[in-house]
Amino acid sequence: SQNILTDSFDRKHTYLRISLTERCNLRCSYCMPLEGVPLSPKDHLMNAEEVFEIAKLFVQEGVTKIRLTGGEPLVRKDFPEILTSLATLPVQLTMTTNGVTVDRHLELLKKCGMKSLNLSLDTLDADKFKKITFRDQFKKVHENMFLLQQEGFLVKINVVLMKGVNEDEILDFIELTRDYPFVVRFIEFMPFDGNNWNREKTVSLREILDLLESTYSADRILRLRDAPNDTAKNYQIQGYKGQFGIISTVTNPFCDSCNRIRLTANGQLKNCLFSQTESDLLNPYREGKTIVPIIQKAVGKKFAMRGGLSSPEQFNDPEQHHNRSMITIGG
Ligand code: GTP
Ligand code: 5AD
Ligand code: SF4
Repeated sequence: SQNILTDSFDRKHTYLRISLTERCNLRCSYCMPLEGVPLSPKDHLMNAEEVFEIAKLFVQEGVTKIRLTGGEPLVRKDFPEILTSLATLPVQLTMTTNGVTVDRHLELLKKCGMKSLNLSLDTLDADKFKKITFRDQFKKVHENMFLLQQEGFLVKINVVLMKGVNEDEILDFIELTRDYPFVVRFIEFMPFDGNNWNREKTVSLREILDLLESTYSADRILRLRDAPNDTAKNYQIQGYKGQFGIISTVTNPFCDSCNRIRLTANGQLKNCLFSQTESDLLNPYREGKTIVPIIQKAVGKKFAMRGGLSSPEQFNDPEQHHNRSMITIGG
């Protein structure tokens, strides 16, 4: 199409991530402070119709893939209405969920053409799950992971690795791909407001590869060809049904191939996960203004890398980040 959202580095933005809510039924420490974050008043959040109408404008500007995020997208009461309306757009629809209530929505997801789902699950141990999420929902999420797979969805499992917390489970997750066609993604823990990040808590791509190489013989570790614009570097152990990948924003950023933009639940456009500025779309939209030029301008201002925090010195210094908590960005 002719109007693709292109930035000054010629990156084409065809993938929109829409955060539907700032709320969640878990309390993951890497995502939010335990005391919570200040929530937007309800009338500052996009309603179902606004989500659809604004998404439609992005589609007219060349977006071909929409991922729903949160918070937890499924806690939104009008989720069925939103999903049903978005399913009428010519896009690949998908979502990232913590899986706590996903079993209640399977028919809806199928009816709306959803083929794949990304599920956050950072541990295979029930006690550890409770320590990470402050909620006792391991059994439900673990069951739902298998249920989704049995029901025919491609399931990517997101594992945020943290030193001293779950780094000892890397091989358990890889072994899960022996008999099941899951795609496990190990994610380097990243800095956001209120998550007490520091570089020492991050398990790096290099450390994961070292463990891999010391465990499996070299000829069994297959480096797969990554899909264009993939966040992960993908691998498979020879003969295993599933695959795994490593998302290395901290030590090996992949910004050159970025095709993502984000819309927050309160209608702000973020041109990067780490953008320090946002562009309000919701208020101009409510005032009846044409917001497409605002979108184009925001994309045009996108930095080459990590919202301008390019060097490790800048990125690894929490003082230099002026961002939201992850719970209000959606990943
Ligand atoms: P696919 O569409 O299946 O490739 O998923 P995804 O990796 O884009 O999305 P998901 O919501 O599953 O996010 C997995 C991890 O990747 C999270 O930690 C996200 O914060 C991170 N992530 C997603 N998109 C981007 C991005 O554009 N830049 C960076 N740096 N990280 C991202
Ligand atoms: N660092 C890396 N990934 C994170 N996620 C949430 N917070 C962080 C963080 N601080 C991931 C979750 C979720 C995805 C959308 O973002 O695993 O699956
Ligand atoms: Fe894109 Fe920003 Fe992520 Fe880099 S850090 S890949 S520019 S969203």
